[in-house]
Amino acid sequence: KARISIAIDGPAGAGKSTIAKIISKTLNILYLDTGAMYRAVALKAIRESVDTLNREQMSKLVENIDIKIAHSEDIQRIFLDGEDVTDFIRTPEVSIGASNVATVPAVRLKMVELQREIAKKNSVVMDGRDIGTYVLPDATLKFFLTASVEARAIRRYNELLSKGITQITLEDVKKDIEYRDKNDSNREFAPLSKAPDAIEIDTTDLTIEQVVNKIMEYAKDYV
Ligand code: C5P
Repeated sequence: KARISIAIDGPAGAGKSTIAKIISKTLNILYLDTGAMYRAVALKAIRESVDTLNREQMSKLVENIDIKIAHSEDIQRIFLDGEDVTDFIRTPEVSIGASNVATVPAVRLKMVELQREIAKKNSVVMDGRDIGTYVLPDATLKFFLTASVEARAIRRYNELLSKGITQITLEDVKKDIEYRDKNDSNREFAPLSKAPDAIEIDTTDLTIEQVVNKIMEYAKDYV
């Protein structure tokens, strides 16, 4: 069977990872969460007290960084310099840090290299911000998921609660999302934007199943 790649881009909380996981199972292809990579870079910076917006220091920090992805059962595990950091990268501090480090070209070049390598060897569904526009411009299918800021904030908030992160308010989550939307859309290098050939889906009033069904209308030939 020919190799395929599906790009799912969009802002935080639009449902990308939830949907991408289901699509990967349905099509029996690899799911790659590219946001986790930027999060791991941010975690390293935070731990080493490096300013996540300092280009020079961030470029240096990623020179010898070792980021590896492994898949066990349905879960993507991410390794930073040999340590499994999967459980440490979902905090609000790391979210903001990830958005900051993602503005640094040297960081992006390094992550994109890894992402393209994985897509060369596997059929994948990849979620992120620049997959359809920059990482995989020739992707088999491209989707751009959106939703209102309110809907996205509520989803993220519930997700954090379910992970036991309770010391944060809905208003904090909304601010975090607005900050990242702005940062991700306005950076010069590979910003968040819809590829001209991407199919846009507004998920505000759709259930997960409805979004999956829409995507599968396009992807059904690849089952
Ligand atoms: O998707 P997630 O919320 O985990 O991504 C965290 C941050 O990483 C985003 O806010 C964005 O700044 C950055 N990112 C990116 N490009 C990607 C994936 C994530 O710039 N392909």
